[in-house]
Amino acid sequence: MRMPWPYQLRCFNCHARYPHGTLNYRCEKCEGLLEIRFHISKRRIPWKNRALSVWRYRELLPIDSDRFVTSLGEGGTGLHRLRRLAKQIGLKRVYVKNEGENPTGSFKDRGMTVALSKARELGKRRVVCASTGNTAASLAAYSAQAGLDCIVFVPKGKIAPGKMLQVVMHGARIVEVEGDFDQAMKLVVDLTQRRNSFYLMNSLNPFRLEGQKTIAFEVLDQLEKTPDAVVLPVGNGGNISAIWKGFGEFRELGVAKRKPRMIGVQAEKAAPIARAVRDNRDTIRPVRNPQTLATAIRIGSPVNWTKVLRAIKESNGTATTVSDGEILTAQRELASKEGIFVEPASAASIAGLKKSVNSGDVDRSDLIVCVTTGHGLKDPSIVDRIPRPKSYTLKITDTDWIDRLERTL
Ligand SMILES: Cc1ncc(COP(=O)(O)O)c(C=O)c1O
Ligand SMILES: [Zn+2]
Repeated sequence: MRMPWPYQLRCFNCHARYPHGTLNYRCEKCEGLLEIRFHISKRRIPWKNRALSVWRYRELLPIDSDRFVTSLGEGGTGLHRLRRLAKQIGLKRVYVKNEGENPTGSFKDRGMTVALSKARELGKRRVVCASTGNTAASLAAYSAQAGLDCIVFVPKGKIAPGKMLQVVMHGARIVEVEGDFDQAMKLVVDLTQRRNSFYLMNSLNPFRLEGQKTIAFEVLDQLEKTPDAVVLPVGNGGNISAIWKGFGEFRELGVAKRKPRMIGVQAEKAAPIARAVRDNRDTIRPVRNPQTLATAIRIGSPVNWTKVLRAIKESNGTATTVSDGEILTAQRELASKEGIFVEPASAASIAGLKKSVNSGDVDRSDLIVCVTTGHGLKDPSIVDRIPRPKSYTLKITDTDWIDRLERTL
């Protein structure tokens, strides 16, 4: 049986240590977020000959026994070089790490395989999350495989239909909150603090982020060098923090020589992180009633904001905002010029990249990785927002239909 390398659970803020099985989500001393710290010394890499996947990096995942591992084959997603779209933007080297290729169609599966394995290790039978859709879809699937009781809190009427369908099919129990994601999140935190039998599976749970950090590991293994910048959408801020942590661990191990700049992208009317970065503040001001058609990042009060601001600062990165129109354009361009269909929140990374090139935050010679976080089929509701392509009607009784078709095309 392979075992993890030694690790600690500690406060991100004051570094107070906690036992591995603690059920707190925040530091008892300072209310800071918790994080896992591996004791990394330069050592031989054992995973060279293993297939690309989350569990390839088993030694850097904080699960104490293989017995409880629940997996649907997550990770190992494609890193696709953009050619036509990159040229249009004026860049030479742009890659997309396409997380829509995960089992339930989003990066959440990477975190869920680890956190759900941890839940089982801790003997939990009932798991719960608040979600803009993808976390719920992922948790529902992994709970189904493990036979755990799954309850998801979602903002009523604000979940993309594909995600809702996944939650229903996987048999989760659904609590529809008459409010937005931030309010649903508050309820779930309250519930899990008052009732120990409910295990919190949002990205406040540091074990989730341990799975998500493998995006950085895979990018480094696929590229065999460090990108200059990684561009990705930011909602609650778990993913950008996790990826930054992953780059840090490979740097400590000596696998990578340097670390990339982290560039977070938010929707204009749901941008507490980007506003704080713009104003050079070290705290965020929550946005009330956030709005964007990219429902996955419709978040005004991101729980991981301290980790996000630190990741952006330490990496010498930045954050930018994009409009819904810019998101929709980027989504269509990525699909029609590169064959990669992603959901609106994911397309924000491409829209944000364009902005960053124009503002000079990204240099035209930079090696860029955009993380596209979820599959386009999850959100068919945008069909009414995109222009219909021209279509051609043929009468099958028409004998010279081929000539007619050639004339009309
Ligand atoms: C498709 C998609 N992209 C981006 C995000 C934002 O990720 P995070 O909340 O970790 O910042 C989410 C979160 O729900 C998502 O579903
Ligand atoms: Zn603390």
